[in-house]
Amino acid sequence: MLTKIDTALTRLLPIKFPIIMAPMFLVSNTKMTLAAMQSGITGAIPAFNYRTDKDFRQALQWLRNESTAPFGINLIANKSNVRLDEQLKACLDFKVDFIITSLGNPEQIIKACKREKMLVFCDVIDAFYAKKVEDMGCDALIAVNAEAGGHAGNIPAAELIPMLTQNSKLPVISAGGVGTGEGIYQKIQAGACGVSMGSIFIATPEADVSQEYKEAIVHYGANDIVMTTKISGTPCTIINTPYVQQIGTKQNWLEAILNRNKTIKKYAKMLTFYKGMKALEKAAFSATYQTLWCAGPSIEYVHAIRPVQEIVETLVNEYEQAANTESANIAV
Ligand SMILES: Cc1cc2nc3c(=O)[nH]c(=O)nc-3n(C[C@H](O)[C@H](O)[C@H](O)COP(=O)(O)O)c2cc1C
Repeated sequence: MLTKIDTALTRLLPIKFPIIMAPMFLVSNTKMTLAAMQSGITGAIPAFNYRTDKDFRQALQWLRNESTAPFGINLIANKSNVRLDEQLKACLDFKVDFIITSLGNPEQIIKACKREKMLVFCDVIDAFYAKKVEDMGCDALIAVNAEAGGHAGNIPAAELIPMLTQNSKLPVISAGGVGTGEGIYQKIQAGACGVSMGSIFIATPEADVSQEYKEAIVHYGANDIVMTTKISGTPCTIINTPYVQQIGTKQNWLEAILNRNKTIKKYAKMLTFYKGMKALEKAAFSATYQTLWCAGPSIEYVHAIRPVQEIVETLVNEYEQAANTESANIAV
């Protein structure tokens, strides 16, 4: 097995293999992240997975005690995150190795982290936003493509990676649709310096989500993923379970009207978001008929519930095979 895959990402962090276990709301936890860190990759957890500052700080402390390998935290930069200042402060206090920003304007986060020489990677979905965050001083772009799980972008990886590498000097990490080492190899050949992979790590013993959710990741495939606005108001990928088919993927007429009404829009959106998050939480952690499971098309590549380390070893072996096949083809 390869001992290292050398890219801009493995030099920035440093890690052996250019893979980030992507931050996943409700799913990511310290056990999965530590397993990632011990397998030669890294992981990031959404700060929002912790209800209180105390819980969040305890998680950061635990990871620091268990390993010297780098890990990251995902901060939501938009106005809906009323706990951003407190979350950022904890990250700065623990000198978290890298921050992944998503949604909203990350300027405040980048400025604060720069002062502490901490790395900031920003989620972007196009060249326009990439230029903005590059000018703000971010260290790498996470190119969230149309195949991603969660709040996906709208440009396929094959277009998005070259679009960003041609228009930016920053390293580009590809997020979305990757489930094999060959997939990682292709993204690196296309110009990315690594990948951020979420969905395939849901079906692991280290994840705390329900057995039903993990089994759904194994049994459903890419064709079963649909986009819904029903949960948070913002399009999000979920598994098209019989329950989802029953409730539909679009907001009903009343929700849609309330969400457009100028005076009550803000509160209607908050209510939709709150209700959606509660429903997701219930589905993620308990056996319920209301099966709302967030995942992306890359679940196509998941055939069993396997430990994080085993998944990483398979990815690295497949990467090596893909690289060897390519060089053999060139030699012929
Ligand atoms: C269940 C789930 C929850 C997610 N939650 C977040 C989140 O809280 N913050 C974020 O920036 N991205 C989130 N994402 C997106 C991932 O960080 C990453 O971009 C995505 O998983 C990449 O696509 P993949 O699932 O095909 O690997 C989530 C994705 C999934 C599948």
